[in-house]
Amino acid sequence: MASEGYVYVTRRIPEEALQLLRRDVAVRIWDSDEVVPREVLLKEVAGAVGLLCLLTERIDEELLSHAPRLKVVANMAVGYDNLDLSALSRRRIVATNTPGVLTETTADFAFALIMAIARRVVEGDRFVREGRWKTWGPMLLLGRDVHRATIGIIGMGRIGSEVARRGALGFGMQVLYFSRTRKLDLEERFGYRYVDLETLLRESDFVSIHVDLNDSTRKLIDARRLALMKPTAYLINTARGPIVDSRALYEALRDGRIAGAALDVTDPEPLPLDHPLWSFDNVVITPHIASASERTRARMAEMAAENVLAVLAGREPPNPVVSPQASPKRT
Ligand code: DGY
Repeated sequence: MASEGYVYVTRRIPEEALQLLRRDVAVRIWDSDEVVPREVLLKEVAGAVGLLCLLTERIDEELLSHAPRLKVVANMAVGYDNLDLSALSRRRIVATNTPGVLTETTADFAFALIMAIARRVVEGDRFVREGRWKTWGPMLLLGRDVHRATIGIIGMGRIGSEVARRGALGFGMQVLYFSRTRKLDLEERFGYRYVDLETLLRESDFVSIHVDLNDSTRKLIDARRLALMKPTAYLINTARGPIVDSRALYEALRDGRIAGAALDVTDPEPLPLDHPLWSFDNVVITPHIASASERTRARMAEMAAENVLAVLAGREPPNPVVSPQASPKRT
């Protein structure tokens, strides 16, 4: 291995990835399931040539100014809104992500949320646990059908396409989508309809968000756009919390302007227990676990490790988002 120094890993990650790194480089790790404290991270990066980090770490100018030897930042996530790409590229530090491997796992989970919110799965579990279930009842916990409903996909990238495919082929849903680029092949093959965002919000029974977080998508779903949704429609977010204006979502739910929301991501994360969104039965919130299957998380960690090793060996990494050669890529 060309580089002296060590790779710093900011959390306990699947063992296979650590072994992969340790075969070639010295590794230091924040060996915990808690977030590494910022002051520890700032100290640890001082001698690091590589950083394997998570979406919970802010990789910004301040951090990079403490890391004079750093050559690569490998984010163990497909999203990389936690990385300051201009600061990284100014310092000619390579940044990488983990696209592809989590696509299907995340799409599965988006569907788990769709089913959970529409068919009141979480409410049903709570109802039984709390001893409130007395008898089968024809009016008990009535939900809404998912099959043959209309799903609106915001962002027809890898994950959005897989959610759409599940909806169309598995549940006979009509698919509307709004995206940076039109997918004519998918429109032809599956009959998806490309519409503007307003039409998507007006016509969908389920609105599922699959765009990355950047300046143009922050608070994309605000009060005005929530007001366009049908009162019978649900909002599903497995992308990033700040894409939805939490206050506006709270007000839409409070006023019964939408039927419910299922959120794997929130703003902030974790959502404080006194946050008003917890007051609704028609809200399901999970702790950012859409990609959390054993196999996928192992693969994500390995990919991040492979990216680190490639850069330290002087090779182009498999998944660059910033490299001295390449321009920033989007998820
Ligand atoms: C990502 O990869 O960006 C997810 O949010 C975590 O899997």
